[in-house]
Amino acid sequence: MSFSRRTNWNQEPNALTRAIEDLKSRGTPIVDVTESNPMRCGFEYPGAILQTLSDPKNLDYLPDPNGMASARQAVARFCGIPTDRMVLTSSTSEAYTFLFRLLLNPGEKVLLPRPCYPLFQFLLELSDATYGYYPLRYSGDQWAIDVEALASLIDSNTRAIILVNPNNPTGSYVKKHELQQLNRLCAKHRLSIISDEVFWDYALPVQGVVDAASLKNNAEVLTFVLGGLSKSAGLPQMKLGWILASGPPMLVQEALGRLEIIADTFLSVNIPAQNALPAWLALAPAINAQLLERVRGNLQLLRQGPVKVLTVEGGWYAVLCLPGIDEDQYVLELLTQHHLLIHPGYFFDFLEEGHLVASLLPKRECFAKMMGILTEDNSA
Ligand SMILES: Cc1ncc(COP(=O)(O)O)c(C=O)c1O
Repeated sequence: MSFSRRTNWNQEPNALTRAIEDLKSRGTPIVDVTESNPMRCGFEYPGAILQTLSDPKNLDYLPDPNGMASARQAVARFCGIPTDRMVLTSSTSEAYTFLFRLLLNPGEKVLLPRPCYPLFQFLLELSDATYGYYPLRYSGDQWAIDVEALASLIDSNTRAIILVNPNNPTGSYVKKHELQQLNRLCAKHRLSIISDEVFWDYALPVQGVVDAASLKNNAEVLTFVLGGLSKSAGLPQMKLGWILASGPPMLVQEALGRLEIIADTFLSVNIPAQNALPAWLALAPAINAQLLERVRGNLQLLRQGPVKVLTVEGGWYAVLCLPGIDEDQYVLELLTQHHLLIHPGYFFDFLEEGHLVASLLPKRECFAKMMGILTEDNSA
């Protein structure tokens, strides 16, 4: 019996996971600021979300590989783009896999931001792709893409650049001048861009300004923007995402034709979700407003505390800066001594030690408890 090398993962639980299990087995309540599942953070979801699922239309099955026209029209209205540049998927993670299958031969390379959320390595390895990290650097109270470093990583094996816009966990958007530089580089080296804009609707203006460039209508190079219900409507369990293609028309047409065949191979987006999509997207702004209010409130609270918080331009996360800490040891201490669970920066591949990452979705009471613990710990 043998398994593929790509699934040779280390499945041993680490010290943090073991400590969490230990506390849970003893029934000890945990102040959990890693929770970013909106279904577990006490929001009020309208009952109308479920009513749509009992529609008799759900007993019919007429699959369209790109997604049903009515569902695509709903996304088109929501995102302000035409339906004919769109493919529906069962999640953003699936959308990434479709795009890696479309763009990369085995062993070819994608460039990823660092720090970033830790799913890409798995998605890329499952697609037999390789990757290199380009740095996001924090200076002068702002994150920026190190475009020079990114350019130096491009080689004959590189096929695409991933942008996370705004990024998880740094909360930084791609700026217009960065996009111009990236477009020039991608055009020169014939690279595609994948722009993950799942958190686009969660902008947190800095001094009243949102400095951000969406790639939804990026005309210069072949571009794919990703979005989905999990963040836009706070409904991750409904498993519905979308890919919006743009760029030189001939390339877009070729890409969409190939993507349609990939999507047709799986037909993975279920019909009830597609039938419900217009209603869910109509409810999204009200859900989004609740989440944004929580994110803003928690961020404000965090900024009043003893620990430096890096600038957040959008999304659901905040980065705390504690220079000199050993992240592994500190996070374990917070958990075992104070029952506070927070992510260490290394989980997101920060370039330097000394960072913690908190989700901004947990209830305010949970955040207030975290503040108490951090204040006590940093004044001792
Ligand atoms: C930046 C980013 N993209 C995509 C996803 C996954 O979204 P989906 O639930 O649509 O797969 C996440 C999940 O946290 C994320 O942080």
